[in-house]
Amino acid sequence: MANNGNMPKRVTVVEVGPRDGLQNEQGVIPTEAKIAFIDMLSAAGFAVVEATSFVSPKAIPQLADASEVMAGITRRPGTRYTVLVPNAKGMERALAAKVDEVAVFTGASETFVQHNIRTSIAGSITNFRPVVEMARQAGIRVRGYISTAFGCPYEGAVAPEAVARVARELVALGVDELSIGDTIGVATPNQVGDVVSALQDVTSLDRLAMHFHDTRGTALANVLVALELGITIFDSSSGGLGGCPYAPGASGNLATEDLLYLLHGMGIETGVDLDAVVAASRYLAGVRGMAPASRYYAAATATS
Ligand code: COA
Ligand code: ZN
Repeated sequence: MANNGNMPKRVTVVEVGPRDGLQNEQGVIPTEAKIAFIDMLSAAGFAVVEATSFVSPKAIPQLADASEVMAGITRRPGTRYTVLVPNAKGMERALAAKVDEVAVFTGASETFVQHNIRTSIAGSITNFRPVVEMARQAGIRVRGYISTAFGCPYEGAVAPEAVARVARELVALGVDELSIGDTIGVATPNQVGDVVSALQDVTSLDRLAMHFHDTRGTALANVLVALELGITIFDSSSGGLGGCPYAPGASGNLATEDLLYLLHGMGIETGVDLDAVVAASRYLAGVRGMAPASRYYAAATATS
């Protein structure tokens, strides 16, 4: 199919299901099942899989097996395995697990950051300093997440300038890529334009990722606008798994299947095999005993 207008020819999809999805599970997912899920996602061809978090096991008991997960997966050449790290202690664990990339995470609203990582935005930047330094020495990449960039569950509206302020600090620290998160899934396409435009003089577009949640059904509309603005990196989760334990009402991330269907249909390459993602979602749905939220998944697996 012909490519559309000024759309990019290729997009990088960062699969965050094993982390952003599984951090929120009510039940216990066995370590072996997490490993099998990640291996299936690797086989689907993702360039980046966010596999787990090296955070406090008291904060996120669901991912307390991070070291075992990283030791158990089969690493596919061509896939970068990234993990969340909040502080130097997490970084030591991540380095011992031989990760390819780490992601530090803060937010654009003080109350959310306080709930999530028990410090202020300024305090989070201070905690990230040794993390980025250790990453530099180890020669691994650093992503920087900015949560609540389009709205906060506690404070409501968030100004694009507040996002740009945190972004500037992360860029000054030396992060390689920023992921701009709609943690509670409230963004509308006009807001995407406002935030991208506020970030334009902070970093180059090829270092900006968008992380949309589909809570209110606006995620794909937001992706389309972001594509038109020149964004080429999108985070999504297999099956639409996810939410955030510190963001009440935050249902799933944009489903990878739905994103891939849109991109491939528009002639945009991702290098990811959509059928293989459906197979990974189907496997995990069996483990969880719950159907995935993905619309594409429902259509692809419907039996008439
Ligand atoms: N890995 C393992 N354990 C860790 C840790 C890490 N990265 N960071 C802290 N801990 C442990 C400490 O050793 C300490 O343990 P102890 O009570 O047995 O001595 C305990 O956690 C508290 O440590 P402290 O430094 O006081 O942290 P805190 O209570 O202020 O919590 C964070 C701060 C950032 C560590 C914690 O809030 C956290 O991990 N949050 C992650 C939240 C998250 O992942 N949210 C979803 C992503 S959007
Ligand atoms: Zn998310």
